[in-house]
Formats: sequence, structure tokens, C-alpha cells
Amino acid sequence: MPKITIDGQECEFDGKQMILQVALDQGAKLPHYCYHPGLSVVASCRICLAEVFAPNPKNDNKLEPWPPGPGGKLVPTCQSPALDGMVVNTQTPKAIANQKTVMELLLVNHPLDCPVCDQAGECSLQDYSYDYGRAQSRFEEDKAKQPKKDVGPNVWLYSDRCIMCSRCVRFTREVSGTGELAVFGRGHTEEIDVFPGKPLDNELSGNVVDLCPVGALLDKDFLFSQRVWFLTKTPSIDGITASGDNISVEHNEGQVYRVKPRTNMEVNKWWISDEIRYGWKFVQDPKRLRSPMRKQHGVAEECDWNQAYKTIGERFKSIVAEHGTGSLAVMVSPMLSCEDAYLLGRMIRAVDSDAVLSVGPIPRDGQDKPFPGGYVIHAEKAPNARGVRRALEQVGVVVRGYDEFQSLVSGDSKIKGVVVTGGYPSDWVTDDLMHALEGKFTVAVDVLPNRLTDRADVVLPGATWVEKSGTFENASNRLQTFMQAIPVIELAKPEGQIALDLVAACDQGERAIYDAAAVREQLGGPFVADVHHPVEKQRVEADMEYVEL
Ligand code: SF4
Ligand code: FES
Repeated sequence: MPKITIDGQECEFDGKQMILQVALDQGAKLPHYCYHPGLSVVASCRICLAEVFAPNPKNDNKLEPWPPGPGGKLVPTCQSPALDGMVVNTQTPKAIANQKTVMELLLVNHPLDCPVCDQAGECSLQDYSYDYGRAQSRFEEDKAKQPKKDVGPNVWLYSDRCIMCSRCVRFTREVSGTGELAVFGRGHTEEIDVFPGKPLDNELSGNVVDLCPVGALLDKDFLFSQRVWFLTKTPSIDGITASGDNISVEHNEGQVYRVKPRTNMEVNKWWISDEIRYGWKFVQDPKRLRSPMRKQHGVAEECDWNQAYKTIGERFKSIVAEHGTGSLAVMVSPMLSCEDAYLLGRMIRAVDSDAVLSVGPIPRDGQDKPFPGGYVIHAEKAPNARGVRRALEQVGVVVRGYDEFQSLVSGDSKIKGVVVTGGYPSDWVTDDLMHALEGKFTVAVDVLPNRLTDRADVVLPGATWVEKSGTFENASNRLQTFMQAIPVIELAKPEGQIALDLVAACDQGERAIYDAAAVREQLGGPFVADVHHPVEKQRVEADMEYVEL
């Protein structure tokens, strides 16, 4: 495999790659602002320049300055293809002088407002100032001041922090294809802006905040809500749509503050949609179901878990005793994980060996929407319809669709007891479902209150995907695991744990503790062999502990 040497570190590469990309792939340090692997190369910031030498086959493969010619020019590593045997130096006097000059020029007009900037702690300008900049500024004149601009529903532009890398402009041209952002003016007065009456309002707009290497483009939703060094990052998967996009849930003290994309070249590359970025808010909805409830003399009242389990166990057993097997059913929501589905299916079959198993409603919104950069917004608004079906099939029975479930349950059918799971971010209960469940003993497992939880005989508060670990199967049939980011709200429990507890309640046996990896082992097959785990494996702990003064 061809190799180059960057500051003494040997880096292997494959095919046609730029020097900078080879360095980044191998974890070698090379400063860069304007370069991003998902965008075209403009080589405008000039911080990545290095002295490069390459073997000359006409001169016995001796190392000579690259490109050939007099003067030994510095080379933009983001724009120069790596060649076997190249030696790249970023620490020579010439390269260091360039880095210091670039940093000095960038900081001429940049305000020194790191203490109040959201980007502090994850800012390339801040980091490179330490690594490549000067200790003191020689600029004595007044800095150019530019306004804060409201460029779109999700994004602020703090213009005077901008270093004109043009990443945001290229993103709206090349990836979202919407072209709202552009460079206006020239030289000292150059600035990024939107066109009059055309705000940055596309379904991928939040990605420009991630792309901005400084604190110029900021997320309105996250603004001033938390210093980034207090945030713990847990690898997760989109829990809103069927995309399977890899995300990082960033949280502190049990509260989610933001969701960011995790790079996965086989799924979402570097991007996520705004729907995924901001769609987690229902996790912290003040209306979340927090405690089990059961109907006593026709009135719903809070109870503890043991009372709820006892009520369900007794009713399920008496229904099966009176009506025979096949009188219970479970509807597993596509918002739940494969592990939840498998355990719920096994639970209901442990009580009733002919119980009906079905997948819940799968919401859709229009058609899949592809973007010029290759990103696709999925019309299917549930993360795990395929995985729930696949896991229920592992229980060894025919799995019914939602319409079939409704017609099997409705009216004077044999089915008298039903477990219905939700977990959707918004109201999902239809008149047809309410009608189908009339007269049935209904256990509702959900996260938000709705007509069904108002009427159910027992309500069990479930968990959102960020409060548990598990596996989702996306629209391309890719199985991916996600980790628990925050503790489950108050008295709620993951649905897999509820299923295990119910088995114990019905059997009067010991309760097992939910363990997603152990359930995957039981599921076997693709759930062990084909499942994709986060590359990061572990969550990234906060740099600093938050202490209330
Ligand atoms: S706003 Fe940010 S991403 Fe856009 S050009 Fe300025 S520094 Fe670059
Ligand atoms: S990263 Fe190479 S010139 Fe900007």
C-alpha cells in the first residue's frame, strides 16, 4: 500500500486522496478550516500549507521539493494528491511562519468573545490559536464590526466571528441544493448573508452549524443553554424516522441538550435532517407519563408497578382460562427496539401460547426526499418497523400488520385482552383503534398521554429510545445498536423491562434485569452476526463536571 510521511508519522493510503485527507484518516494533526471531506475543495484559508518533498524517479528517487521547480513553495495539503513516498512537514520554519500569519490575519477582525461564544470548547479557531497562533496580537486599530443576523428559523449568524471559509455556502449549493447562503462584498467588507426574502430554511439547515469551524453560525435551539465541556456524548441512532442516521446524543445531568450527526459513510455521511436534530424534544415533554395507572371502579388512579403487574397478570390469566388460548394480543409499535419487541412477544406467548402478535401503525409523510449531496429524508416516520417485525418473527409465529390487528381485535372477536404500545412523538391514536379496542381489557404502554391512555384499564409509562439501549433496523435493513444516554424519567421503565417483569408477575417467578446484548444473543442470527455497533463503542464523558454554586 502506498505511504506518505507526515511530520515523521507514516500514513498509508488507498487510491486518489489528498494529503490532508490521508492525514485526517490516520489521526495525524494537520490544521484546516475550509476543507471538509463532504464538500468541494477551494483551498482558500491557507492554514493547511506544508513543505512537501517527493521522490524523483529521474534522480534515483531522491527526495526533492514538491511541486518541482524553483523556490520550494508551500503546498495546500487539502488540494494536493498524496503520492507514494512523499514527505510532508508542517513544522519547518517556512510552514510555521505561514500558520502564524494566517492565524494573525484571521484574528485581526475576530472578536475576543470566547467566554460568551457557544462554540468555545469545540472551536477550531480557538484550538489553532493555542497550537499555531501568536501569543499576542500586533493589531492596534479598531476591529471591523458586523451585525448578528437572523438568517433562518434555526440559525443565527454572528457575522464578525466569520473567517470566510465558505463551508456553509458550499453546503447549501452542493448538499442541500438550496443555495440560500452566499458571499457578499469583497476584501475587508466581505460577508456571508442570505438573499433578501430568502432565509436559510431547508430541511438540512442545521448542518451549517456543525460545519462552521468557528462560532459564526449558531443553533438557535442550543444557544446559551449549556457549555459544551459539560456535555457527555452518547452514540445513538435516529429514533424518529427510518433513516438509521448515526447520531450523538449530547446530555448533562439526565437532560438532553442537543443531537448531532455521527459520521457514517454507509448511512448518513456527515449529515442529519433538522427533523432528527430537533425531533427529540418529546423526550423532555412535561406531559410525559411518569407513573403506572390502573382503573379502580371505573376511575384511573396512580398505582405502583407491583399493583399494575398484579392487575394485568390476574386479568390475563382469567381471560385465557375463560376464553381459551388465542384470546390475548400484543401490538408492538415501530418506535420500539428489536429487543423490546422480542421480549413483549415472548411475554404474551408465555401467558397465552396462541396470542396474536402484530406491528403497530407505521406513520408516513409523503415520499422519500433525496438531496443533491446524496442525503435522503425518509418518508417513513418510525425507526424500526422492519426490526420489530423481524424480532417478533423470531418468537416463531405469524406477525400481523396493523390493519389486520384492528380487524382481528374488533367487535365480538375472541381476543379479550390487549397490550398496545406507542412511544410516538405526537398523537397517534385513531378513531378506528379506539373503536376496535372497545370492551377489551387494554394495557397501554406509552410515553405521552392520549385518548388510549385515558381509557385503558392499565397504563404503563414506557421509555424513549434515548433512555434505553437496543437495536433498530433502518429502511435499508441495516441493524444498528444504540446506547442509553440518560436515565429513564421518574417511574417509567423500558418496554423490554416491563415485558420481563410481566413474565415474572404471571409466573410468580424471579424478575430478570433487561440487558440488550443478552437479548440479542437470544435472538441470534442477524442480531448477532450482522448488527452494526457504534465505532466509538463508548460514550465520551464530559470534560468537566457541572457544579451548582
Ligand atoms: S459562517 Fe462559518 S462556515 Fe460560513 S464562511 Fe463563515 S466561518 Fe465559514
Ligand atoms: S484547508 Fe487547505 S487551504 Fe483551507
